[in-house]
Amino acid sequence: MRTIEQTAALREELASLRARGEIGFVPTMGNLHQGHLQLVREAKRRARHVVASIFVNPLQFGPEEDLDKYPRTLAADQEALTAEGVSLLFTPSVETLYPVPLEQQTRVSVPGISSLYCGASRPGHFDGVATVVCKLFNIVQPDIAVFGRKDYQQLAVIRRMVGDLAMPVEILGVDTVREQDGLAMSSRNQYLRPEERALAPGLYTTLRGGAERIRAGERDYRQLAADLRTQLDSMGFRSDYIEVVDADTLLSPGPEARCLAILAAAWLGAARLIDNVEIPLAAAGGSSQEESSR
Ligand code: PAJ
Repeated sequence: MRTIEQTAALREELASLRARGEIGFVPTMGNLHQGHLQLVREAKRRARHVVASIFVNPLQFGPEEDLDKYPRTLAADQEALTAEGVSLLFTPSVETLYPVPLEQQTRVSVPGISSLYCGASRPGHFDGVATVVCKLFNIVQPDIAVFGRKDYQQLAVIRRMVGDLAMPVEILGVDTVREQDGLAMSSRNQYLRPEERALAPGLYTTLRGGAERIRAGERDYRQLAADLRTQLDSMGFRSDYIEVVDADTLLSPGPEARCLAILAAAWLGAARLIDNVEIPLAAAGGSSQEESSR
């Protein structure tokens, strides 16, 4: 695996790879865990060559957020990606990716879904994500790109951007990889103190409980979300949002919804955890992910 910091050098390498097969791309912010590596494996299954990127994107962090303390572990990440058979790793500096001052950087904005849930709690976050992913797509020009369903809203924003701007890339979603106790793997889990780490699986347990109630026939989603919020808070979380949504639109589900998702974000000490569960409603018709991958 070659690690490349400069755009021109990466493009040169990509040209020779592309001549020999499809390119699958996995963008990350590094500090890789099994969740990220699962995306790499999926990319490898679907494309001849895998290109990964590690870039802690300042444009998607709010002023009070953890940009400075976000864990950076390049050597270990390189080792893990090499072991997974990645061909190229792109590790641009902030100056390489954003040579102009950040406030003058051209931005990509996906209105509507970007302002809900995580977007409401983190203003500008999804503009930062859409902008960097668009730029990385322009540099790498992948045939497919792989993202985790753990960041459910992020995946929806990227699918929308790709559709709206006719970007010639296929987006694949990969199921959330979890610790044995159910906690979704995340670089931010390191911010949990031991007693918080012990409570953390409660987020997924609560979501699964909500899914069970829907499967059992519950249709008052507002009440359900309110109950789940109370449950989370009584466990020791500070819930940010918890919503039952139509998995395709991320809006309140109407009678036509084929698949629901419960999306949640909650704080435990210094860590903001997010997670989700999907609840397909239609018995037939294939998987909702495939249906929503327009
Ligand atoms: P990062 O948090 O590093 O995540 C990179 C990719 O890994 C995302 O697609 C995310 O959904 C996926 N991922 C993280 N944890 C996962 C888990 N437990 N199971 C499965 N997939 C998981 O998301 C970002 O970086 C950035 O916003 C980025 C898209 C790179 C743009 O800067």
